[in-house]
Amino acid sequence: MRNGKLLTLAIESSCDETAAAVMEEGRSVLSNIISSQIDIHKQFGGVVPEIASRHHLTNVNTVVDRALEEAGAAMDDVDMIGVTCGPGLVGALLIGLATAKAYALATGKPLIGVHHIHGHICANYIEHGELEPPFTALVVSGGHTNIVEVTGYNECRVLGGTRDDAAGEAYDKVARVLGLGYPGGPLIDRIAADGDPAAVEFKRVFLEKGSFDFSFSGIKTGVLNYVNSEKQAGREINVADVAAGFQAAVLDVIVAKTLKAATDMGKDRIVMAGGVAANSRLRAMMEEGCAERGLKLYYPSPVLCTDNAAMIGCAAYYRYMAGDRDDLSLDAIPNLEL
Ligand code: KG4
Ligand code: ZN
Repeated sequence: MRNGKLLTLAIESSCDETAAAVMEEGRSVLSNIISSQIDIHKQFGGVVPEIASRHHLTNVNTVVDRALEEAGAAMDDVDMIGVTCGPGLVGALLIGLATAKAYALATGKPLIGVHHIHGHICANYIEHGELEPPFTALVVSGGHTNIVEVTGYNECRVLGGTRDDAAGEAYDKVARVLGLGYPGGPLIDRIAADGDPAAVEFKRVFLEKGSFDFSFSGIKTGVLNYVNSEKQAGREINVADVAAGFQAAVLDVIVAKTLKAATDMGKDRIVMAGGVAANSRLRAMMEEGCAERGLKLYYPSPVLCTDNAAMIGCAAYYRYMAGDRDDLSLDAIPNLEL
């Protein structure tokens, strides 16, 4: 507690970002430190779990110290310690969790485990002061693709999810096929802007009528088959056109299902979250779809779309306010359900 306000120290380490933040009263960011391992994993074309864990271990204490220092806060000022407990890479999660538990044990502060997706959704509260539940959320990241009906700060219902690859995973895999590098999302986002989305058409996979589920593994194979057949025929590939065609096929489905979910559930607000929510074409398509239907659209700035601890601190605050507490038996659950 400082100046009568609750402070949260939060830690996030579910994938390849070691992050710590200090939040004031849930929605106000005092510090948000992110140590990214992208340059380390780039050479392997994706995240190598063992390497990620090792780097989390090396960095986590420094990242926490920097978060406290930048917030001008002492450990004594902190009222709760929030930490991502799943889903994610188990070895990576365990480092953040062990650190949070050690601080909780040493200081006697309450420990609060946060679901990573709950955190992504909460990123929107940080920048949109007026936003409150209920709303429909689209969570699109490297590990998740979900349409969620958010009914309260701590209550939600999953309407649909991916049956195979996550949206961001599809972006990363297709970028690799096209030789663009890692992470693929931002690279495809950029290059697709110069391409013609109708030049190379890929199948839109809507699954059964009324389903809010997704399937993106077929499109990755579709791109791979297209690239191989063009190569075999000795034809030059227009990477921008293929990227634009891929992106259009993925986003047409995501946007249509999200808009339908909001309309079916009678919600007048849509919230986007996760790394892919930083995508410029997705934002433009959702802006247009929402404007046509009189829906209000919210999304965080790119730094709060991708993994960070500020969003985890915000989610921890709402759990704390609801009286939720965890103890030192809190475990890392790689496939934790929402
Ligand atoms: O939320 P996040 O940092 O990690 C997970 O929880 O998975 O999301 C990372 C994912 C990666 O797959 C990355 O390629 C994708 O988000 N991404 C994007 C963009 N920026 C990041 N995808 C499409 N367009 C972008 N601008
Ligand atoms: Zn994430």
